[in-house]
This record gives sequence, C-alpha cells and structure tokens, in this order.
Amino acid sequence: QQLLRDSLPEAEVLIVSNREPYIHNRDGDTVSVQVPASGLVSALEPVIRACGGTWIAHGSGSADRETVDRHDRIDVPPDRPAYSLRRIWISDEEQEGFYYGFANEGLWPLCHIAFVRPTFRENDWRLYQAINERFADAVVQEAKTDDPIVLVQDYHFALAPRMIRNKLPKATIITFWHIPWPNAETFSICPWKEQIIDGMLGSTILGFHTQFHCNNFFETVDRFIESRIDREHATVTLGGHETMVRAYPISIEWPPAALEGQPPVEVCRAEVRAALGLAPDTRIAVGIERFDYTKGILDRMRAVDDLLTRQPDWKGRLVFVQVAAPTRSKLSSYSSLQDDAVALADEINARHGSADYTPIRLLIRHHGAAEVFKLFRAADCCVVSSLHDGMNLVAKEFAAARDDERGVLVLSSFTGASRELAAALIVNPYHLHEMATALDTALRMPDREQQERMRAMRQQIREWNVYRWAARMLIDAAASRRRQRIFDLAG
Ligand code: G6P
Repeated sequence: QQLLRDSLPEAEVLIVSNREPYIHNRDGDTVSVQVPASGLVSALEPVIRACGGTWIAHGSGSADRETVDRHDRIDVPPDRPAYSLRRIWISDEEQEGFYYGFANEGLWPLCHIAFVRPTFRENDWRLYQAINERFADAVVQEAKTDDPIVLVQDYHFALAPRMIRNKLPKATIITFWHIPWPNAETFSICPWKEQIIDGMLGSTILGFHTQFHCNNFFETVDRFIESRIDREHATVTLGGHETMVRAYPISIEWPPAALEGQPPVEVCRAEVRAALGLAPDTRIAVGIERFDYTKGILDRMRAVDDLLTRQPDWKGRLVFVQVAAPTRSKLSSYSSLQDDAVALADEINARHGSADYTPIRLLIRHHGAAEVFKLFRAADCCVVSSLHDGMNLVAKEFAAARDDERGVLVLSSFTGASRELAAALIVNPYHLHEMATALDTALRMPDREQQERMRAMRQQIREWNVYRWAARMLIDAAASRRRQRIFDLAG
C-alpha cells in the first residue's frame, strides 16, 4: 500500500468500469450490500480504497437508486468510506445491447478461445457506443481538474478512452483489458475492429495481463490501422498521440482482507465437513468461480469422474465441491451451461455415489469472500481449469488463503496465472487423463512438497500483489506526465 501511495502522482483518480464494487439490493424491508464475484472488482477495490477518488460504474442493484445522493453518488465502503461511487443508470433495453449483446455475446467469446461463436449485431453496437459515451461524459462531470488520471476498465469500454481524450485532452488515461486479446485474424471477425482499436488508442497507457496479449494487440493494430508501431519502446502512435502498450499482470491485495478473522485451518476443515455432512477424513477438492463457459467447469467434473473410474479407491473418500455463482444467465450459452453442469453432476453422482456418498457437490449461488476463503482453507486441492483466462485471480486467492502452506493448486496452462505460479500443477484442461492424474498427484502429495510449492506461490503473490500492479501503471503514468510537462515547457 505504501508503494502505491508513494507512486501516486499528484492527481485525482477516477475509475470507469461496468461492474460496481458494492451492489445494494432490497429484500422486503431490508437493504443488503453485496460485493460481486468479479476479478476486476477484487483487484481494483483495495487499490482505490488506498488512494481514494471516484469510481464510476453501472448501478445494477435493486436498491442502488435509493442509496445514492442527488448526484447519484454514495461514499463507500459502507462501513468505512474511503472513496466515492458514482452510479450510472442503464435501461433494460440498453443493457440488452451494451452488456449482454456487444460486450458478452460479441467481445467476450471473441477474445477467449472458448469455441462459442461471437455474435455482432448493429443495434448492440449502437448501444455499446451510446453507453461508452455516457460513461465518458460522467468522467468529464466528475473530474475536478483538466488532467485527472482515469483508469478505464475492460472490454465494456473499448471506445471510452478516445471519447474521454477528445473531451479532456490532458487527461492521463490508463486502460486495462482484463481478458485476453486474440490474434489479428480472430479479432478481424469484429465488424467494427478499426473503431474498437482506435477507441483504445485514445489511452496514454494500455495494459494487458501478459506480453503475449500485447504482442497480439500490436499485430492487430499493424494489420488494421494506419499507425506507427515501435516495438522496442512498446508504443503505438496514431495521429500524433502516443500510447504505451505493456503487460501488467494483475494480482490480489496482500494480506488479503478475507483472511482476517478466519479460524485455523483445522477448524475451517471441520466446519466445512460438518456443513456438507462429510465424514471426518473425507478429502476435499474445490473449484470456485462464476458459472462461465470459459472456466472449464464441465471438464474438471469429467476429470473427477475419470479419476473415480480409474482409481476406485477414491470412492467414498473424495468429494469435489464446485461453487458456481450464477452470471449473465439471460444468455443461452450461460443458462445451458448451468443445465449441462447439473445434469453431468447427477450423472457422475449416480455412477459413483451411494446413499451416503455424493462425490460432486454443485453449489449454485453467490458466496461471499469469507465463505470462499473458508472453503479454500478447508480444501486439500483447488482446481482452476479455465479453457482460457486473462489472469484468473481464484488461483492467487487460493494460495493467499493458505497461510498454513498446505494445499495443492491444479492450474490450467491457458490462464495468465500459470506464467507466474509455476509451482502449481500445470495442466491442459482439454486433456482429461492429464487432469485426473494431476488431481490424484495433488491429493497424494507429501507434506514437504506441498509446503515447498505453496511457499513459492505465496512469495510470488506477496511480492507481486495488486498494489504493485497499480503502482507500476501509475509510475509509468507519472513518467509520461513528466515528459508531457517538459514538452509543453519547451513549447
Ligand atoms: C470478468 C470480467 C469483468 C467482470 C467479471 C464479472 O472478470 O473481466 O469485467 O466484472 O468477469 O462479470 P459480470 O458480467 O458479472 O460483471
């Protein structure tokens, strides 16, 4: 946190994202606050809590409107306010086109190698433009200076950087793309590829999780836009404006707030076993994510099936707990995944289970951070089998939860996290046998080896935590502001 404060240039900070950090929902007479299941939120929230500022996001909760002031603002976190949340309202029709349509049926499958066909519709594109404009306008309204630092987040806002640049030419715009960037050929599926790229190049700094995604971006620019690319200095210059394109691997806060107040690991284990009605010596493997087709949830269930078939001595002794938070369920690609997962769990449970043994436990509901951390602490192994993922913070959170230095992470090679967490058991989630074997290895791993691997991962995350992620971008931003000032002074 200190590192972040030290690297903060003297400027106001504004964040733009679709998902808000706190959602207020009404249930009868009571209003409850929820923190959404979002890698973006879990990474950025500790950052803005540390540096203060304004977060502009879509107000999506049923009680969101009644909790804001007349400028649509509310101070958060609710218990100890540290920054201001400005909510933007989006109608159902706009949400269909902007969020479900262009962002989640177009850009999301386009950028992930997930074999779900991207769909691009004219009307979705129109609404995507309109909502980007609405957020860009909100930045201008909220900015108290003419040169703020604006942190634009993710694929919902590819156009906003250019729109903000046009209105606030002196702003430092740092855009971070939280999902992968595909190769140029794949990206060319998007009918509005030039506009998307042009929008992003309104940024001062454009960040991706890995160098590989940066390289894909350079190739895409090279192929579709008339600009000057300087690979050595990692910049693209378009119309006299320079954008720095760099890899900033995102991370989590350290120490994680969700660890506060957690009982010792043995207690967590006993509590989780009791809650699930498991025998005291049952081994537990967990998977925790949004119910998304990029996460490989069916694949890891099939791997458990394969393990129980090939190594029947695990029957009765191993339970796989899959927590899946419903997400984007209006889209058929998501609702059918949920149906398929339920059917597959039933099938596997019928094949290997008995009256008092249910090998797969599918818990379809949102779990808060404390609950998630308790499950992590109770587990012998955590499976992250994403078919494709920008970073994947679940992998990092699992390691962060294990201050006992035990537990094994089985991690897909198609996550950004696998670049950093080499001490995990790295697997190809498309290779069923390989994943089943890794599960078996994880569950039989000697204590010493678990400790060695967990220590290495924890050290990596502690050192490269989310404050450093943000600090590195802000240091680059400060350097760019300095260069600009000298340039201005030199006339
Ligand atoms: C991914 C995206 C985030 C998004 C999160 C949750 O991590 O990169 O932008 O917030 O998923 O998805 P949702 O659609 O529920 O906001």
